[in-house]
Amino acid sequence: MYGPVQIAPSILSADCANLERDVREVVDAGIDWIHVDVMDGHFVPNLTIGPAHVRALKEITDVPLDVHLMIDNPEEQVPWYISAGADMISVHYEACSDPRALIATIHERGAQAGIAINPDTPTEVLADVVDVLDMVLVMSVHPGFAGQSFIPESPARLAAAIGQCKDAGVEPLIEVDGGINFLTAPLCSAVGADVLVAGNAIFSQTDRAAVIKELRHVCD
Ligand code: DX5
Ligand code: ZN
Repeated sequence: MYGPVQIAPSILSADCANLERDVREVVDAGIDWIHVDVMDGHFVPNLTIGPAHVRALKEITDVPLDVHLMIDNPEEQVPWYISAGADMISVHYEACSDPRALIATIHERGAQAGIAINPDTPTEVLADVVDVLDMVLVMSVHPGFAGQSFIPESPARLAAAIGQCKDAGVEPLIEVDGGINFLTAPLCSAVGADVLVAGNAIFSQTDRAAVIKELRHVCD
């Protein structure tokens, strides 16, 4: 919290027909994570990519893979993504029957563990698990699609989530995901967000390196 922000481009907005090209471009621009949005068409309406894509990404870069599982039954699939090379796995609190058990599994298998909460999930649920988390992922859009508008209440939710962490005496990474751009990024970093996920803001532009640089600059 309150250090320089980390940038995690979401490849949901990258060119699917030229994924390696787009990934290499943002890696060369100096990013901190690659945010991989996995959607199963059940937990969210959209359907995206799976373990094979994570494995392929692992082959082309050493940048840590921040895998965001927007899926039902994450308990079954988490091992597949860790075997494929996920460095961080965030599962949705709303999809977990036993979050602490699943977080323990992620750690046992050698990855870092995050819990994601949707915009209408009270941040108080974090109290159940925050002591064992490496990251809290606060959604600033309703999950499922790129290019959505930032929910204005999100900075207050970030602050509340950080408050939960402080009450527990822990400092996991705080990641914000959805609608991040030059206007919304500083609203999030100002309240303590560590990691900014940005998809459309980066990949909709031709000079991705300039966008990444400016996202860091507006948060200084
Ligand atoms: C939405 C995903 C986000 C999304 C971010 O369900 O979890 O990671 O791709 O994309 P933008 O930055 O376009 O909102
Ligand atoms: Zn995401």
